Amino acid sequence: TVLVGRRIRRRMKWWRLIRVVKDLEHGCESTVWTLRQVASAMTVEMRAGLATHSGSKLEMLVTFVDKLPNGSEKGTYYALDLLDTNFRVSRVQLGGTRSSTLVCDVYQQPIPQNLVTGTSEDLFDFIASSLKEFVERERDVPEHSLDITRKLGFTFSFPVKQTSVSSGTLLKWTKGFVIKDMVGREIAECLEKATTKKGLKMRVAALVNDSVGTLTLGHYHDIDVVAAVILGRGTNACYLERTDAIIKFPELLASSSDMVINIEWGNFYSIYLPRTVHDKELDADSPNPNNQVFEKLISGMYLGDIVRRVILRMSRESDTFEAISSKLSVPFILRTEMIAAMHEDDSDDLTEVGSILRDVLEIPDVPLKVRRFIVKVCDVVTRRAARLAAAGIAGILKKIGRDGTDGITDRCRDYHEMRKTVVAIDGSLYTDYTMFREYMHEALTEILGEGVAQHVILKVIKDGSAIGAALVVASHSSYLVDSVQ
Ligand code: GLC
Repeated sequence: TVLVGRRIRRRMKWWRLIRVVKDLEHGCESTVWTLRQVASAMTVEMRAGLATHSGSKLEMLVTFVDKLPNGSEKGTYYALDLLDTNFRVSRVQLGGTRSSTLVCDVYQQPIPQNLVTGTSEDLFDFIASSLKEFVERERDVPEHSLDITRKLGFTFSFPVKQTSVSSGTLLKWTKGFVIKDMVGREIAECLEKATTKKGLKMRVAALVNDSVGTLTLGHYHDIDVVAAVILGRGTNACYLERTDAIIKFPELLASSSDMVINIEWGNFYSIYLPRTVHDKELDADSPNPNNQVFEKLISGMYLGDIVRRVILRMSRESDTFEAISSKLSVPFILRTEMIAAMHEDDSDDLTEVGSILRDVLEIPDVPLKVRRFIVKVCDVVTRRAARLAAAGIAGILKKIGRDGTDGITDRCRDYHEMRKTVVAIDGSLYTDYTMFREYMHEALTEILGEGVAQHVILKVIKDGSAIGAALVVASHSSYLVDSVQ
């Protein structure tokens, strides 16, 4: 009876483990039907966000970027990029032709964790000091003396209500930033105040979102680029819209015909989004519950933590891992790179999975069978994320009539006549995580159908937040006046 009891317990253990994974699979299910509903809901929300100032989960922010570069831009510009955990300053030289664009100098530094949750003054003082260091290094170049006012393209990748191409106020923080006194404040002003304090002459000539920088650089190289998507620590998209569709801003019609709209799609919500108890708990524990729901299902900041939560549940519900490691309760201990490494571990005995479980989560000697379950968890979570990102893109294409469902395409019935549509993409989730990228392509083809999908190209555009920001400065001002000559 002792032996039989042991065998039953072992079976129960496996059964519980399988149940956790099956529940997850069920909760994350994203059939093509679901994805099409998500895409349609995205289109509907986009329309609502363009019509009213607060009637949609999507901000649909007007960026005041109404001219995209044409290749003739010239001059030296500076770009400051507040990346998620780093910030970067670059000097960009635009030579008047596409092939002569050059990033001459780059300086990158991590943002200390305490500044991410401190005061805005501390953050901007820190950035200003580093900017000054960067500029001081240029002293040897005579025409780069400290006395000239440098024009800066500032990539600030958070939701900003712009008042012009170079100014705007922060609507809210995302991606774990919580500098409370900054919300509602004018961003360019905060930076200029800090640089002036350091005796540095810098003027923010463009304030851009990372997605907007990526679209700008993408379009600079290929005029068929009509949208950009960021799949990194956060996720977002922007696209080129006709001003007559921006009903909430009728005054724009007088000055421009097209405008880049920052969708802030991270905040998208729809009842069709497949969410599990782990996603809901992650959201409830976050500093911004009920916000950025789409982002929390997709982006690099969160995927690792969803997987951690599932492993914790596996550990609690079955004694497979012997004791429950305290590390499993540490939020964000599993980063998305680790998920990718486990997911793409092609060794027979899943060595990489074993070492991440041992070294990061302090769970030693996990049997191969259980390691396979862990890989499955990574797969389910990543696949859902990639498929939802594809649905988001399909939503944008639908909004701009490039998803093949408009009358013209139906009439032609010949997909060869469809126009090529290029979507610029940046972010390590897409560029460095092969399985994510493959799942995303697969889903986009499923949603659009092969005939249409072959006309949609996802093109990696790196450096949008440096060169792209500089290009926004250049294309929105005459270089003779605005650039350092
Ligand atoms: C977050 C920000 C958004 C940014 C994205 C990618 O969603 O709110 O502005 O573009 O992350 O960095």
